[in-house]
Amino acid sequence: MKYFIVTFGCQMNVHDSEKIAGILEQKGYERASSKEEADIIVFNTCAIREGAEDRVFGNVGALKKMKKERPDLIIAVCGCMTQKEQTALEMKKKFPFVDIIIGTFNVVKLGEYIDKLKESRKKQVEVFEEGDIDELLPYKRTSGENAWVNIIQGCNNFCTYCIVPYVRGREKSREKEAILSEIKELVKSGKYKQITLLGQNVNSYGKDLKNPCSFAQLLSEICKIEGDFKVWFMTSHPKDLSDEVIDVIAKEDKILKDIHLPAQSGNNRILAKMNRKYTREDYLKIIKKIKRKIPSVRLTSDFIVGFPTETEEEFLDTYSLIEEVRFDSIFAFIYSKREGTVASKMDGQIDEETKRIRVNKLLDLEKKIQKEDNKK
Ligand code: SAH
Ligand code: SF4
Ligand code: F3S
Repeated sequence: MKYFIVTFGCQMNVHDSEKIAGILEQKGYERASSKEEADIIVFNTCAIREGAEDRVFGNVGALKKMKKERPDLIIAVCGCMTQKEQTALEMKKKFPFVDIIIGTFNVVKLGEYIDKLKESRKKQVEVFEEGDIDELLPYKRTSGENAWVNIIQGCNNFCTYCIVPYVRGREKSREKEAILSEIKELVKSGKYKQITLLGQNVNSYGKDLKNPCSFAQLLSEICKIEGDFKVWFMTSHPKDLSDEVIDVIAKEDKILKDIHLPAQSGNNRILAKMNRKYTREDYLKIIKKIKRKIPSVRLTSDFIVGFPTETEEEFLDTYSLIEEVRFDSIFAFIYSKREGTVASKMDGQIDEETKRIRVNKLLDLEKKIQKEDNKK
């Protein structure tokens, strides 16, 4: 029996898919090289923007014919999109041929659902419940010389545009010992040259633990592990990036001098409306500090254009922030209204044409900066 997993979204989801693969292999499934070859197809979905959800609906819908021809094929949809009850129900209604629809928290029980399904051939929909981090699950790693390691799940920040806190729950750090022993094993295996620590906000690592441990402390301890490997992490929230963390990055040879620090906007009124809890000036101060302490640093960032009520002048503040920092690379996103978030209820939603013009301006600026820097 064979499985095929289709993954959408961020690195966390890519890593979750490695967990799903691990669960399926434990159940005796082998990786298939195509959907046609598979006995079970799993869609691990993303809800961050409407476009991501549309792609999932399109991909799942396209399987209708295959399922008709092969009724024994199991189709499962899981992840951030189906963690939202409304979307899970919509999926169920639209695609009655999907066998299993589950959210992010109960994906660890995928194996049980498959067993139940085989017994009863009844659709399984279960979305809710927020569980603990399961340390015992096997991973089937797929990222070559890079190994993803989760250090903190969920998010407490509630940026007003963002769906993540609703679909991934509150921040939950893994025990430091569990992380260290996982990394030791990975390094010992000799298969991995890079360890990438994952979290929606790695900088708030450890605050919720019984024995609190800061992210800076965790990084230092990871660097003490013997072996030839590099450490990277994502993502950092500017409000939580401490001086200690910058110092550890500067000091430790094992840590890549590569920081992804999403700014989202360069305008203070918009940043406040986004609930980002820092100002343009705070952000630039952190960047200055980073550049001073780590001169070789590679800086990247995320931006959103067309947040509700954003004026042209406010957008130009984002433009000028990028000009000022001269990031090595940026991700520029068109604001996408996410049902259930605070921003979705705000007046002054921006029209699509304006948003497209703004995002293109940022992308052109990025190209221009990269060209100039390459010349240098
Ligand atoms: N936890 C990370 C990133 C989360 S999602 C952080 O806090 O930076 C990755 C990026 O998607 C975000 O940085 C943001 O730029 C973008 N994003 C999130 N919600 C969005 C929305 N509703 N519309 C457009 N872009 C969004
Ligand atoms: Fe979303 Fe903000 Fe949390 Fe990042 S920090 S996941 S943007 S709510
Ligand atoms: Fe998408 Fe969920 Fe990641 S919404 S960006 S897959 S945390």
